[in-house]
Amino acid sequence: MRIVFTGGSGKAGKHAIAYLKARGHVVLNVDLTAVDLPGVQTRIADMTDAGQMHDVMHSYAGLDELGTGNGPQPFDAVVHFAAVPRILIHPDNETFRINTVGTYNVIDAALKAGIRKIVFASSETTYGVCFADGHRLPDYLPVDEDHPTVPEDSYAMSKVCNEATARSFQARTHADIYGLRINNVIEPHEYKEIFPRFVEDPSLRERNIFGYIDARDLGHMVDCCLRTDGLGYEIFNVANPDLSVDMTTQALCAQFYPDVPVREELEVHQTVYAIDRARRLVGFAPQHDWRSELAKG
Ligand SMILES: NC(=O)c1ccc[n+]([C@@H]2O[C@H](COP(=O)([O-])OP(=O)(O)OC[C@H]3O[C@@H](n4cnc5c(N)ncnc54)[C@H](O)[C@@H]3O)[C@@H](O)[C@H]2O)c1
Repeated sequence: MRIVFTGGSGKAGKHAIAYLKARGHVVLNVDLTAVDLPGVQTRIADMTDAGQMHDVMHSYAGLDELGTGNGPQPFDAVVHFAAVPRILIHPDNETFRINTVGTYNVIDAALKAGIRKIVFASSETTYGVCFADGHRLPDYLPVDEDHPTVPEDSYAMSKVCNEATARSFQARTHADIYGLRINNVIEPHEYKEIFPRFVEDPSLRERNIFGYIDARDLGHMVDCCLRTDGLGYEIFNVANPDLSVDMTTQALCAQFYPDVPVREELEVHQTVYAIDRARRLVGFAPQHDWRSELAKG
């Protein structure tokens, strides 16, 4: 597929693009800064400027495409990762403005360019636990996509708003628009740096509902979404099937969630951030887990 990928210079995007390139897709990165990946060109563009987003959707993917003399070829899909990725980087209102206006512009421009598949990054933070002021518990476990999304902070508010924006665009156009409620993204080099601390002190992971996702497996999830047509508007939790801490799920629930209803029988290390929908509807099958990564020499 020919793909416009926004935010591909960031932590998650660069691994996702590498994964998509390895599977033969042509990718144009759209970001405020360039990415250093072989065969990937970046268009420096600001998603909060609608004109710039309309331009990139009708663009060449790179200089090499000038050769045919046939003009820019259409893109097949947009993967939208560009964002301010958390609170406390920008003032709260800027975080909300950039993420919501940017997402509106990206989806609007994509659809008006005739692109019928859009995959966008939402977040685990929509469930309200991650950036709560003080301690907040999920309503029930495992946290699935039907769990209420009533967060308290401007970043997660922007992601809830983006999901509503995407859903409304889908209702008008009937394109396929899939949102990913991504759990905490881990790059390959981070396992040895940070997971020993999580083994020592599991409470460090409570705000992430004890989940994580390898950045390469996130690329795989994006690819699964690109290959699966016809779902209309859909939202998916994205996490590893394992916990990010060295506890059994039963011990974890007893220690951290003694009064939270547990709605199903859970396997010994099963994530409490449910990924059944992604497995069932798009064939999500993550390959990279922290135990194997730490065991590597
Ligand atoms: N990293 C995580 O743990 C995590 C978890 C859940 C969801 N997410 C979401 O996944 C996506 C990627 O996250 P990340 O960790 O790679 O973040 P990141 O900050 O590393 O990357 C985001 C990219 O978006 C670009 N960007 C920001 N504003 C832009 C603008 N106005 N126009 C164009 N590009 C702009 C940045 O330059 C950056 O390269 C984001 O949407 C984030 O909210 C991330």
